[in-house]
Amino acid sequence: MSTDVIPDLAKLQVADDELWLQGPPHEVFERLRNECPVHWSPGIKQTPSDAGFWSVTRAEDIHTVSRDWQGFSSAQNIIITDEAIPVPLVQGMFIGMDPPKHDRIKNLFQKAFTPKAIATHEPAIREITAEVMDRLAGREHADLVTDVAQPVVSRVIGEFMGLDPEDDKPWAEAINALLGFGDTTLNPKGLEALVAEDIPRMYEKCMKLVAARRENPTNDMTSVLVFADIDGDTLSDEEIFAGFVLMMAAGNDSTKATYTSTMRALMENPEQKQLLVDDPSLSSSAVEEALRMFPAFAHFRRTATKDTELNGAQIKAGDKVALWYPSSNRDAERYENPHQFDVHRNPEHQAFGAGGRHFCLGTALARLELKILVEETVKRFPKMTISGQPTYVVSQFSSQLKTLPVRLAG
Ligand code: HEM
Repeated sequence: MSTDVIPDLAKLQVADDELWLQGPPHEVFERLRNECPVHWSPGIKQTPSDAGFWSVTRAEDIHTVSRDWQGFSSAQNIIITDEAIPVPLVQGMFIGMDPPKHDRIKNLFQKAFTPKAIATHEPAIREITAEVMDRLAGREHADLVTDVAQPVVSRVIGEFMGLDPEDDKPWAEAINALLGFGDTTLNPKGLEALVAEDIPRMYEKCMKLVAARRENPTNDMTSVLVFADIDGDTLSDEEIFAGFVLMMAAGNDSTKATYTSTMRALMENPEQKQLLVDDPSLSSSAVEEALRMFPAFAHFRRTATKDTELNGAQIKAGDKVALWYPSSNRDAERYENPHQFDVHRNPEHQAFGAGGRHFCLGTALARLELKILVEETVKRFPKMTISGQPTYVVSQFSSQLKTLPVRLAG
C-alpha cells in the first residue's frame, strides 16, 4: 500500500482488517510515527461496539507506557477489542493483572524460565525438532507452519505443562481459534461457539489434568499452578485454568510466528540465508533480527488510569492504549534501514515488550526454541525455497503467517 491511499488520519482506524491482510500496515505506521505518533482511532470496524483507542507507534513512547503500570493498567484487558477473548478469562491470567497480584503469580514461574533453567531443556527441544523434521524425509514440499512450526512448539510447551502428546493437536487448534478469533479459517465456528463450546471443553480437559496432578504432583508447570501458595492462598480452578491457557497461548503462537517469519525472510533474501548456511553461529543474531522485524504479537493494550499527556496526545482516564510493536521495531529513530533484514544486525527490540512488569516471561525459552528450529532447518534444507503465496492470519494481535509453502530441496 502506498502512503497516498492511507485515509485522512482523523478518520483512520488502525485496526481495520482491510489494512492488515498482508500483515502489519508498515506504511501506515511510518506515517503515524512521522506525523501523529500517538494517534486516536475512533473505533474498530469489525467490532463496532468496541470503543476507540490510542495507537502508540514510537519506541520511546512504548517504553514509557510499558514501565508505568500505575498510569497504564493491564487489568481491564490486554487487547484493543473487548468483543473477542472473554474478558474474565483475560483478567484471570497474570498478564491481565496489575501488581501486587500480578507479581505474586508471575514469581511462581520465574524459576523455571531463567536462561540457566531453560538451557537444561536444549537436548529435549533438539530431539523434538529432529523428530518432527525426520517426518519430512522423502517429501518434495511442505508447509512450514503446519508441518514444522506447530508440531514442534506444541510439543515443547506441552511437555512444560505436562500434556500427553496426543493432546497437542486439539490444544493447538483451540488456542489458534482463541488468538486468531477474527480469522474464519482458524475460528470457523465464530466467537459465540468459541465461548459456548470450545472454552468449556478446554476447561474440562484442563481440570482432568489438574485432578491428576492433585493426586500425583510432578515437576511440570501445571503442578506449579495446582500447588501455588500465594501468601497462604491457593489458586481457584478458574485461576489455574487462566494460568494454563496463558502458558499454552504464549508458548504456541509466539515462537511459531517468529520461526516462520524468520524462514520466510531468509528465503526472500537468499544472500542472507547463504550467510547463515556458511556460518550457523549467526542464527541467534538472525532470530533477534526476525523478532525485531516480525514481532509475534502486533500489540498489547493498556488502559489509562488517569488523565495524562503522551507525546502531545491528551489521554483520558479509561482510554484504551495500544502499543504497536511492528511499528516501534522499525522506528527510524532507532534503526538504520529499518525495513531491511540483516542477519548481522543482532538488534535490541520490543518484540518481547519494552520492559516493565509485563515483560515476556518466556524470552529464554523462545530464543532457544527459535535458534534450534532455524539451525536445524538451514542445516537440513539449505536450498529450501518458497513454493507458493504465504498467507497471513487475519489479526491485529496474533501477527503471523497461516501458511508458508516451501519446496524443501530448493
Ligand atoms: C517469539 C516468542 C515470543 C514473543 C514475541 C513474546 C512476546 C511477549 C510480549 C510482547 C509480552 C507482553 C509484554 C508487555 O505487555 O509488556 C509477553 C508476555 C508474556 N509472555 Fe511472551 N513472547 C514469546 C514467547 C513466549 C513463550 C515461549 C512463553 C512461555 C511459554 C511466554 C510467556 C509469556 C508470559 C507468561 C507473558 C506475560 C508476562 C506478564 O504479564 O508479566 N512468551 N510476551
